[in-house]
Amino acid sequence: MHPSILSARRTAFWGATVSALAVALISYRFLPLGVEVAMDFLAHNLDGNAIPLYAHIGVAPIALALMPFQFMGRLRAGRPALHRWMGRAYAAAILVSGLAGFQLAFHSTAGSVASAGFACLAVLWLATTAQGVIYAVRRRFALHRIWMLRSASLTFAAVTLRIYLGTALALDWDFSIAYTVIAWLCWVPNALAIEIYLRVSGALDCISRPVAAE
Ligand code: HEM
Repeated sequence: MHPSILSARRTAFWGATVSALAVALISYRFLPLGVEVAMDFLAHNLDGNAIPLYAHIGVAPIALALMPFQFMGRLRAGRPALHRWMGRAYAAAILVSGLAGFQLAFHSTAGSVASAGFACLAVLWLATTAQGVIYAVRRRFALHRIWMLRSASLTFAAVTLRIYLGTALALDWDFSIAYTVIAWLCWVPNALAIEIYLRVSGALDCISRPVAAE
């Protein structure tokens, strides 16, 4: 690979790692502050929908924090048992917080278009992660990597959502319109970008190769 592409890839990876860890950490602000203060627009869920709310905001940051470590080649090769345990924790966190996120989607105060955006994201998040786990169990590691990259691109929606939301607030855009758009914008470009990367990098070629060649 050309050195400039390699260095751009490294910079993007470390940028994504730092932002994922920062968003995961900041998400726990509800522990000292309480949901009413830290995330007032979600407080209506405390009445009758508290379990999905806490399951989502308490567990999803674990998936986000674990995600970058799963793509560190040296860690994966040097500590394979750790990779497997962190992978199990990542998938379990997504199972819990994805189901809870799906439930929360239908209680969003931003309206039905935003609800549909979050609900689609939840279904795809659960499905891509499940597919990645299935390929790991079957020891189809090239396919495992492809599906976990797809899963990670959706996990990263937690970061992109906050970048777009911050931008919308800074530019003083109408909040309810911006939030409706962002419910889709936070994940559709991520999913497209990873598909382009998989095609350009030749990663999808393994699909047409026999299993033994993976
Ligand atoms: C990728 C699938 C995800 C789905 C479908 C999803 C869905 C949702 C929904 C529907 C809400 C409530 C929004 C509203 O009522 O308007 C929410 C809020 C929240 N989500 Fe997620 N989410 C996902 C991923 C994540 C991840 C990976 C994190 C990790 C940090 C996360 C952390 C949070 C937090 C902390 C909130 C509270 C609001 C805030 O801090 O901005 N979510 N999510």
